[in-house]
Amino acid sequence: MNVKQVNQTKFGKATSSFYVVAVHRATDQEQWVKDLKEKTGVDLVALLKQQLISHEEGKVSLVPTMQETGITRIVTVGLGAKSDWTMSTVRESFAAVGKVALQAKAEEVTICVPALEAFEQEIEEVVNVAVEGIGLGQYVVPHYKATVNEAAYEWSTLGLDGVEDLDVTVGLASAEAVNYARTLVNMPPNILTAREMARQAEKIAEKHGFEIEVLGKEELEEIGAGALLAVNQGSVEPPRLIVMKYHGGGEDWTDVLGLVGKGITFDTGGYTLKPGASMVGMKGDMGGAAAVLGAMDLIGTLRPERNVMAVIASTDNMINGEAIRPDDVITSLSGKTIEIVSTDAEGRLVLADAVTYAKQEGADYLVDVATLTGGVIVALGKDKTGAVTNDEAYFEEFMQAAIEADEFVWRLPLTKNDKKRIRKSLVADLNNAPGRDGHMIFGGGFVGEFVEDTPWVHLDIAGTSDAEGPHVLGPKGATGVMVRTLATFAEQFEPEK
Ligand code: BES
Ligand code: MN
Ligand code: ZN
Repeated sequence: MNVKQVNQTKFGKATSSFYVVAVHRATDQEQWVKDLKEKTGVDLVALLKQQLISHEEGKVSLVPTMQETGITRIVTVGLGAKSDWTMSTVRESFAAVGKVALQAKAEEVTICVPALEAFEQEIEEVVNVAVEGIGLGQYVVPHYKATVNEAAYEWSTLGLDGVEDLDVTVGLASAEAVNYARTLVNMPPNILTAREMARQAEKIAEKHGFEIEVLGKEELEEIGAGALLAVNQGSVEPPRLIVMKYHGGGEDWTDVLGLVGKGITFDTGGYTLKPGASMVGMKGDMGGAAAVLGAMDLIGTLRPERNVMAVIASTDNMINGEAIRPDDVITSLSGKTIEIVSTDAEGRLVLADAVTYAKQEGADYLVDVATLTGGVIVALGKDKTGAVTNDEAYFEEFMQAAIEADEFVWRLPLTKNDKKRIRKSLVADLNNAPGRDGHMIFGGGFVGEFVEDTPWVHLDIAGTSDAEGPHVLGPKGATGVMVRTLATFAEQFEPEK
């Protein structure tokens, strides 16, 4: 996101080559439509009637203006019927606008604010979500092509026609944070290594004044983070455990919300090697870490009155003569021992040490995010994030944030019997792969063994982190899922006293 300037004008005073008006089924009733006709000669009611433009949700049309008005093009976007409206109607419709603005390489995008007043919500909130939508829709996957001469597209001016002093910082920051997470996930694994992940975290920490600590291989050996180290054992790239702290909750480091992310920069499967076709795309196995970093970026702008800690465990999962094997027994940071059944169940191993470290550093509430299992895709498809929890009331609170952010989360059960299977081993406290039946639950449940009684939600984003094709909010590739939910949760969550 490259907005360098936000111009606010009295309604009708804007000049723009990309003037966005939202139209809906009852648009013909509204005063601004008449005013716009007077100013530009464009009669939206007539155009709607002749079906030259559409009020269908997400439909975008470009209407050139013929008068000397300073507005050279009106861009209409349909919002559908008022009875169906939610904030996601705005987000998704304006993401469609963002995509068209990208195609048109529009440098200035101006929103006609009165057209959004049909919404009952606070106008500032509506406009922020619209801005967020445009930003998400304009996302482009960064590439490394040497043969392209085209200059990168930049959206540099945002116009708001019909308001003064409307603050769009949050809408801009939200799109930027999600797009940042997308870019991390889209980055190739030879570039986004664990060391680079730590540099990215340092950049975010510096931007917002967060406290940051990065543990390297030696420090991890000193504290005995044997599970993260085990996954890193076959790699030439050193591991990183990244810990970031935002002190928003006053003097004391209490009621700390811990956000924990899986940061596997590439997952070969290890000796339990993935077949070639399943290995492609495993650069995205740090989607949880990206969601946590993106959320911290947004939290740095929102600055909620809450203490938040981010913990990211990062390494790749590779093979050499020193790599772990199935049948190995390792000792985690918690002291619990683990029988390795599958070296491809590596995410839960690094998360085990990450949640233990988060607890040691004072986390009172936990959410972990991970591209953990193919099982979640089998269970829920590619468009739903799977969840597991140890605390229903806490999960309900979390769901409020997910619903508000409009990111679909569905909870799966974690039963006594599931736990029994995770604890079944002749040689260790736990085994890392109890079976392929319902294995999303085993992945989450394994992490739960290290969480113990701390209220906790586990999010499996293996399906939702990456889109196989273009979708309403963005292009094929990384989605930046859970950034908005995590930041919303940090903002709204009230611990029980
Ligand atoms: N990173 C994968 C999960 C994954 C699969 C992410 C597809 C994105 C898309 C994870 O480390 C993994 O390999 N999980 C195994 C677990 C099994 C060995 C118990 C799986 O899902 O098969
Ligand atoms: Mn794996
Ligand atoms: Zn993995």
